Amino acid sequence: MKALIIYMSVHHKNTEKIAMEMAEVLDADLMKAYEANEKDISRYDLIGFGSGIYFFRHHRKLLEFAEKLVAKKKKAFIFSTYGGGSPKIYHKLLRKKLAKKGFRIIGEFSCKGYDTFGPLKFIGGINKGKPDEKDLKRAREFAKTLINSSHSSKYEKN
Ligand SMILES: Cc1cc2nc3c(=O)[nH]c(=O)nc-3n(C[C@H](O)[C@H](O)[C@H](O)COP(=O)(O)O)c2cc1C
Repeated sequence: MKALIIYMSVHHKNTEKIAMEMAEVLDADLMKAYEANEKDISRYDLIGFGSGIYFFRHHRKLLEFAEKLVAKKKKAFIFSTYGGGSPKIYHKLLRKKLAKKGFRIIGEFSCKGYDTFGPLKFIGGINKGKPDEKDLKRAREFAKTLINSSHSSKYEKN
C-alpha cells in the first residue's frame, strides 16, 4: 500500500509533527497542499489530508486542493490540530468535499495544538507543549489502524 500525506501547518508546525509521525508508520510521502497536484494522487492507495484549524475549518489551500480533485474512489483519512472546540465539527467541510469526490474516509484524527492566535498571545497561548509525546503516540497508533482498517476515529476527548 502506497500512502501520501498532504498537509498545511502554518501556525506553530503543530500539524507537521503529527503528519511526520503518521508518515513514519505508513512509510508515506509527505507534501504541502500547494506542492501537490492531481496526478500525484493517482499513484497512491491511501491519501491523508490534514492541517491546523483556522477559523473553524482546515487550511484554505487544503480545501482548495480537495475541491480541484477529480472523482477518485480511493481511501483517505483526515487529521487536524486545533486550539479548542469540536474537531468533529471542524472536519465537516473537508469530509464533505472528499466524500463528494468519491473518497472513502477510513479514519479521522485530531489533537490539540499550541495556539497563540490573536489575544491568546498576551496570555502566552494555550495548549503549550502540544502536541506532546502522548499525542504523537496516539497519532502513531491511529496510523497503524489505517493499514488494515475499514474505519477508525480518534478525536481528542475534551
Ligand atoms: C488564524 C488562526 C485561526 C485559528 N482558528 C481556530 C479555530 O477556529 N478553532 C480552533 O480550535 N483553533 C483555531 N486556531 C488554532 C490552531 O488550529 C492551532 O494552533 C493549530 O494547532 C495550528 O496548527 P499548525 O501549527 O499546524 O498551523 C487558529 C489559529 C490561527 C493562527
